[in-house]
Formats: sequence, structure tokens, C-alpha cells
Amino acid sequence: MAEVTILLGAPGAGKGTASERLIKRLGYEHVATGDMLREALKEGTALGLKAEQYMKRGELVPDEVIIQLVEERLDKGGRRTQFLFDGFPRTLAQAELLQKAVEKRRGKVAQVFLLDAPREVLIQRLTGRRICRSCGANFHVTNMPPKKPGICDSCGGELYHRPDDTETTIANRLDVYTTQTQPLISHYEGQGVLVRVDSSRQVDGLVAEIVGAIERRGARQGAKPVGDCGR
Ligand code: AP5
Repeated sequence: MAEVTILLGAPGAGKGTASERLIKRLGYEHVATGDMLREALKEGTALGLKAEQYMKRGELVPDEVIIQLVEERLDKGGRRTQFLFDGFPRTLAQAELLQKAVEKRRGKVAQVFLLDAPREVLIQRLTGRRICRSCGANFHVTNMPPKKPGICDSCGGELYHRPDDTETTIANRLDVYTTQTQPLISHYEGQGVLVRVDSSRQVDGLVAEIVGAIERRGARQGAKPVGDCGR
């Protein structure tokens, strides 16, 4: 059985940052399609090279490429049955394909958290974001600065500025989100699984609110409370 929790939100809403903390708290399997595509590109696979042209422009990679990646990841989850999706689905077609994929595995989409923040906050976050080349840890030049500029606190790796975090590409990514991804809000609202959270505040408060909502849902369903799994 595969139970899926989704973080939905515009570029810069804080999906990746919240995911890093949530998987430590909950022990869920993290599925971030953007990270998977960047990994494929780093390895120089055919899929990575195909995706690069879309990512550079801030456009979405075709649905059939993404769903194949996701299906493989669901199967690689091993004994894990709880998945945290970050950046997927991003179109109604992807949401429908995900629904079929989880049903095939006798699972369901349990909750969808909409991380909501104003456009000016998104732009400030994306233009200042820095990522570790070695371990992928996420920083921000002013919001979450590393102890030593340009160096990762966790592993000492080099921090880089994502090539799609330029002002022009950010503007395109935000437009793509409005036209292609925002329709998912009413889609999941209609299914009664959407939870809106204000992601313009401190990340600790945001994560606590999401964990609280997951625990309340678990309690309604008679599951054990979630806790720090020590990952
Ligand atoms: P992807 O990598 O998924 O990028 P994105 O959705 O554009 O989201 P971001 O990673 O930019 O933002 P985030 O919400 O994770 O914010 P973060 O936590 O880093 O996708 C990249 C590309 O891949 C797409 O454009 C597309 O081409 C392709 N792709 C991926 N998935 C696809 C799919 N399903 N279908 C088709 N194509 C797909 O935070 C940003 C910054 O803000 C950081 O510096 C962080 O430190 C800071 N910050 C975060 N939270 C806070 C906070 N609470 N307070 C202060 N600062 C904060």
C-alpha cells in the first residue's frame, strides 16, 4: 500500500526546505521530481538531457517523462509505504496519473498541503537561494545563511546558485505555476484533502503545523502518533 502526502506550491514556496525537515520527523520517503531531474542531468542520462531544455526555460517537463520517474520511485520505496511528494503533481494530467498509480498499489492520496506565499516573497527567496553541490542542502543568502559564505554547514561542500533562479526564468516558472499547476488546488479541494498553510512565515512553525495536521488525520483514522524517527 502506498499512502501519499503532497506539498503543493509555487516555486520558492518552501517545499524543498519543509520536506528536508518533514522527512526527518516522519520518516517518509521523499520524492522530489525537480531533484530527480537534476540528478539525471548530472549523470548525463538521456532523460536528464531531454529535461534540461525545459528546465532552463522554466517550463514543465512532459507528463509522460515525469510519471515514469514517479512510478519507478514508488516501486523502489521498498518497505516504506508513506511518501512525501514535493513538486509533483504539477498538472491535472499528472494528478490523474498519480491517482491511478497509487490505486494500482492499493494506496491513496492522503493529504495535500498548499504552501501559500505572496509573489514578492517567492522572488526574494529564489533569487537568494543557494544549494550544496554535494549533499543538496538548501540555504538562502539572507533568510538562512550558511555559517561560512559559499560553504555548506552540513558537509563542507560548495554552494551554487541554480541556473533557473534568474529573474527571467523565475517569472516564467511563476506564470507556468499559475496556468498549469494552480488548477490542482480546486481539484484536491473537491476531493476534501487540501490543507492551506501560510508558508511566508518561519519554517519551524510551518513544519509544526503540517505535522499537527498529519497527526490529527492519523488520530481520526486510529493510527499511532508520528514522532522523530531519528533518520
Ligand atoms: P523544482 O526543483 O521542483 O522547482 P520548483 O517547484 O520551481 O520549486 P523550487 O525548488 O524552486 O522551490 P521550493 O518551493 O522547493 O522552495 P525552497 O524550499 O527551495 O523544479 C524545477 C524544474 O524541474 C521545473 O521548472 C520543471 O522544469 C521541472 N519539473 C520538476 N517537477 C516537475 C513536474 N512534476 N512536472 C514537470 N516538470 C517538472 O525555498 C526557496 C528558498 O527560500 C531557499 O533558499 C530557502 O532557504 C528559502 N526559504 C524556504 N522556506 C523559507 C521560510 N519559511 N522562510 C525563509 N526562507 C525560506
